[in-house]
Amino acid sequence: MKQLNFAIVGCGVIAFTHAKSLESLREKDCVLYGACDIIPEKADAFAAEHHVPHVYYDHHDVMADPAVDVVCVCVPSGTHGEICKAAAEAGKAIVCEKPMEITPERIDDVIRTVERTHAKMQCIFQRRMMPAAIAVRQAIRDGKFGRICLAGADLRYYRDQAYYDSAGWRGTWEQDGGGALMNQGVHGIDLILWMLGDEVTSLCGRADTLARRISVEDTAAAVLKMKQGGLCVIQGCTTAYPGFSTTFYIHGEKGTVVFSDDGIQEWTFLDENDAPPRPDAGERVGGSSDPAKISNYGHIHLLGDLADAVREDREPCIPPREASLAVRVICAIYESTRTGAPVTF
Ligand SMILES: NC(=O)c1ccc[n+]([C@@H]2O[C@H](COP(=O)([O-])OP(=O)(O)OC[C@H]3O[C@@H](n4cnc5c(N)ncnc54)[C@H](O)[C@@H]3O)[C@@H](O)[C@H]2O)c1
Repeated sequence: MKQLNFAIVGCGVIAFTHAKSLESLREKDCVLYGACDIIPEKADAFAAEHHVPHVYYDHHDVMADPAVDVVCVCVPSGTHGEICKAAAEAGKAIVCEKPMEITPERIDDVIRTVERTHAKMQCIFQRRMMPAAIAVRQAIRDGKFGRICLAGADLRYYRDQAYYDSAGWRGTWEQDGGGALMNQGVHGIDLILWMLGDEVTSLCGRADTLARRISVEDTAAAVLKMKQGGLCVIQGCTTAYPGFSTTFYIHGEKGTVVFSDDGIQEWTFLDENDAPPRPDAGERVGGSSDPAKISNYGHIHLLGDLADAVREDREPCIPPREASLAVRVICAIYESTRTGAPVTF
């Protein structure tokens, strides 16, 4: 098996999770080869901590290094597109942190470049690896719920002012692209839409800044109308002390499921003989009160899948087109907030 050399661009909070995940992928011949940050001391310290042999202070140098096979994009969200496009043009495979970019236009720009260059690109939405989410998605596809009437994602995080003050890009429209929805809630919005596998036809949303000194929202709610008729309710904030397990519910004509980061609270079907098997709870996801406490489980799977995709010349499990829907919905919630009117897709 050919060794795959990974380089992490952006040596901040989430880079640690990538480095730890790559340690677990040594048996797949995945190696953390390079670390890059525009702040040299951060790149140097990260490389020393994780024994990374090559250090760069400019992402162009990463792209110019022919030994780098895969670039992990761990920079602020509004810079993802620039780095992803540079990596694709340089013939590298890409792992891009969520959100892939912060507007539909920028996302489309990345998708065009990735498709033209045939770059392999994996987008990170690690919650899709939760056994409960996989089982719910399959049960919906198998018709086990019947018609879905009401679904929801309850995304109540806690981030204090110190979190927003810890890096200049946090809580800004320019680099974070939004707040409680675009940064934290994007995980849960992606997950509920992925499980439902249905199209959003319209939505009404409201987002406000109520408790933090930031320009983006810290509190938001929206109602989505789905093509197959059901409603999907999203509520998200970073103001819910002390931070709650993100919770998802599906109520269909034939059954109900409620699950959260803590496990499955309800797995009930009218016809017990036709009920899908209750899945294992899986590893705790974490992060509702502290972003540094995210489990590595999903990242290990997604980085490993990207390595397999490169070697097998196939698409990774979360390619860019798939990863774009949550950002399109979040931007529509912002638009609905601005205009006071529903947004139709
Ligand atoms: N998957 C998850 O659960 C998860 C959790 C946290 C963060 N994230 C995402 O990861 C990304 C980074 O978040 P973070 O909390 O690690 O941020 P951070 O501020 O801690 O780290 C970002 C780093 O990127 C560096 N940087 C900025 N521009 C650069 C450039 N052009 N080239 C090289 N380095 C550059 C900064 O100096 C900083 O060290 C964000 O998009 C965020 O949404 C994902």
